[in-house]
Amino acid sequence: MALASPSESRHGMWSSRWLFILAAAGSAVGIGNIWKFPYVAGENGGGAFVIIYLVCVAIVGIPIMVSEVMLGREGRHSPINTMRSLVERGKRNPMWVLIGWMGVLAGFLILSYYAVIAGWAMNYVVLTAAGTFENISAQNAGMTFNDFLASPWQLMGWQTLFMALTIWIVGKGVSQGLENAIRWFMPLLFILLLVLLGYSVNSGGFQQGFDFMFKVDAGAFTDPQIWLIAMGQSFFTLSLGMGAMMAYGAYVPEDAGVGGTVVTIATLDTLVAVSAGLAIFPIVFANGLDAAQGPGLMFVTIPLAFGQFPLGAVFGTLFFVLVTFAALTSAISLTEPVLAYLVEEYNAKRKRVAISVGVLCWILGLGTVFSFNIWADFSVVGGLTVFDFIDYVSQNIMLPLGGLLIALFAVWQLPKTVLQKQLGFESGVKLGLWRLVAGVIAPLCVLAVFLNILWPVVQGFLQ
Ligand code: PFF
Repeated sequence: MALASPSESRHGMWSSRWLFILAAAGSAVGIGNIWKFPYVAGENGGGAFVIIYLVCVAIVGIPIMVSEVMLGREGRHSPINTMRSLVERGKRNPMWVLIGWMGVLAGFLILSYYAVIAGWAMNYVVLTAAGTFENISAQNAGMTFNDFLASPWQLMGWQTLFMALTIWIVGKGVSQGLENAIRWFMPLLFILLLVLLGYSVNSGGFQQGFDFMFKVDAGAFTDPQIWLIAMGQSFFTLSLGMGAMMAYGAYVPEDAGVGGTVVTIATLDTLVAVSAGLAIFPIVFANGLDAAQGPGLMFVTIPLAFGQFPLGAVFGTLFFVLVTFAALTSAISLTEPVLAYLVEEYNAKRKRVAISVGVLCWILGLGTVFSFNIWADFSVVGGLTVFDFIDYVSQNIMLPLGGLLIALFAVWQLPKTVLQKQLGFESGVKLGLWRLVAGVIAPLCVLAVFLNILWPVVQGFLQ
């Protein structure tokens, strides 16, 4: 099929640049910021991890996001067909289209576990509203969480509910209603994080929490695993490397500037993650909890804090509602590349496609559900549970690899005139600088991290 590149996408367009910012920020800000960032930072020693993560967002994430949005806007199709169209027009190697396919697979893998964890947040809406956490002790907060995890039925119930909600929304198409909701929820979520932050400043553990996040033990910089995980986290949190931003980029009007928009999104996303960390770690230290306790970190510390608030049940409920909402807007973006593709390719009804994709993803998600109970001792490889494995491969390998290829394609395979038009650069100097950052430095950073991980493996083989 020959693919023209229309000036508008058949799936619709954002009504303004501002709506694109909201939608892209809705995709970026999710449980990756509030749940994952603090726990992964905690597991990987804090300071060095946080610094590497921030560096990755700035010098790898932002240029790759610009490349991704730009490709979407130039192709105006789902990521797979956008790549096809750009490859055809530029007579490039068809292998580049694999970027689109790998993205669809990564999105599928991520959504499978994302729905399970978002389901936890939904359960916490109900628990908090019921007053479960009023004046609760750290030990009991931990027990409540562990009891919940031990029940596959409960996890499955919430996973099903979250998945059904996602499918229902995406089946209808990204509606005005959703865009309006994002407009409200982002500022509200931020305000609640600030309230929590205020609490942690006075919790008695702030200094320790702050030091944990920002004090760097220089030795940690030489651990290649930390680099890989921090880099993977920066891709995950910015929704990069799998086509979500490319899919949304396809709906961006011609006249919107991409650079400034992307910096706004990345800044917002980073602020939410860092505030979540600064809210959570002081509570950890003030209550003698373990910073490296893993996925339960947010679900133990936040209820503990709200349990001591006046009107804690109300604020706590609102908090988990907002987290659920943040997860929904991200989950929606995870399905967009595959849905848009199936609709284009088979002229299928969005609703029908959404249900099929949702059911498959739900089935795969059972692997994550069971990883926390009946399969907790089952390891796919190297002690990783099904959840750990899917998470590791998608976040740390597929997203950075996808991002690397996206940047290389955008910078070196698109005609110079297209780059200039998309970026609005008139001078050759600006374009040259852009090519250096996005086409050389960012890909080299990703490659260096991969090689550092692979090198010991290769050495092991050689010996
Ligand atoms: N950025 C989302 C988060 O931080 O929760 C997760 C995510 C959404 C990752 C969309 C990848 C993606 F394409």
